[in-house]
Amino acid sequence: MSISWFITTLLLLHSCTPGVGMDHGIVGGKEYIPHSRPYMVYIRDKQTHKACGGFLIREDFVLTAAHCKRDHLMVYLGVNDTNHLPEGIKVDAIPHPKFDSKKMNDDIMLLKLKKPGTLNKTVNIIALPKNKISSNCMVMGWGLQEYNGKFPSRVLKEVNLTLLRSKYCAIRHNLCTQDEVGPALGDSGGPLICGNVPQGIVSYYIMNEFTNYLTMYANISYYLPWIHKIMNPTL
Ligand SMILES: *[C@@H]1O[C@H](CO)[C@@H](O)[C@H](O)[C@H]1NC(C)=O
Ligand SMILES: *[C@@H]1O[C@H](CO)[C@@H](O)[C@H](O)[C@H]1NC(C)=O
Ligand SMILES: *[C@@H]1O[C@H](CO)[C@@H](O)[C@H](O)[C@H]1NC(C)=O
Ligand SMILES: *[C@@H]1O[C@H](CO)[C@@H](O)[C@H](O)[C@H]1NC(C)=O
Repeated sequence: MSISWFITTLLLLHSCTPGVGMDHGIVGGKEYIPHSRPYMVYIRDKQTHKACGGFLIREDFVLTAAHCKRDHLMVYLGVNDTNHLPEGIKVDAIPHPKFDSKKMNDDIMLLKLKKPGTLNKTVNIIALPKNKISSNCMVMGWGLQEYNGKFPSRVLKEVNLTLLRSKYCAIRHNLCTQDEVGPALGDSGGPLICGNVPQGIVSYYIMNEFTNYLTMYANISYYLPWIHKIMNPTL
């Protein structure tokens, strides 16, 4: 029996069509309570409008996926509706030096904000992982609602997922989930939050002929030394 696998990176390939896609988002997702995820960051290339998610881990640093790197990335903090974006902030992109876009390993990137964000009720940071991973996770994003859909969501959507404990998932320092629901195009770079702690970064999914979706996330804990070295260069 032959099983064909298709690897799909979750960068958004379509640009936003204003006014459409209100009911879309993470596949199987439900709309978040406005501003209940103040660490969530909308990332978009100023010229191509290709979009990703990310999350604020310090006033001046966003964590996202390396395959989201583009030449004119802007980050938007405290976004509720992507049709009404606040002023964007320019960044310096620092992808992991070992990132390989063909094998999709080490798919992690730091964005240093040229102007640090102001923290308030709608903009806040989320702390990096310290403890053992809980299996009860949640993923969120402004991506497509259908795996083969067309329109991204204007408002943030989220869905609960259970971490898959399998040797296969640990390859290339990844975590994974398997379900009929989950991240789709446009959800790249967003956090996989397990027990209130960001543990993974949405990277890509693998689909087999039975249309099961195995989603892969960079295992943040593994990259903590690299993250700390970039964020605290003098330590
Ligand atoms: C968030 O955006 C949605 C869609 O435009 C809108 O219905 C809702 O009122 C907004 N909420 C806040 C708090 O801005
Ligand atoms: C919070 O700060 C952001 C910029 O970081 C700004 O766009 C937003 O309007 C502020 N919100 C409130 C409620 O002050
Ligand atoms: C996720 O699970 C929590 C309880 O563990 C529940 O309160 C929440 O509504 C669920 N979220 C979604 C999007 O289903
Ligand atoms: C994630 O990485 C940490 C640190 O390397 C490791 O201890 C942990 O086992 C990894 N998690 C999984 C599920 O592979």
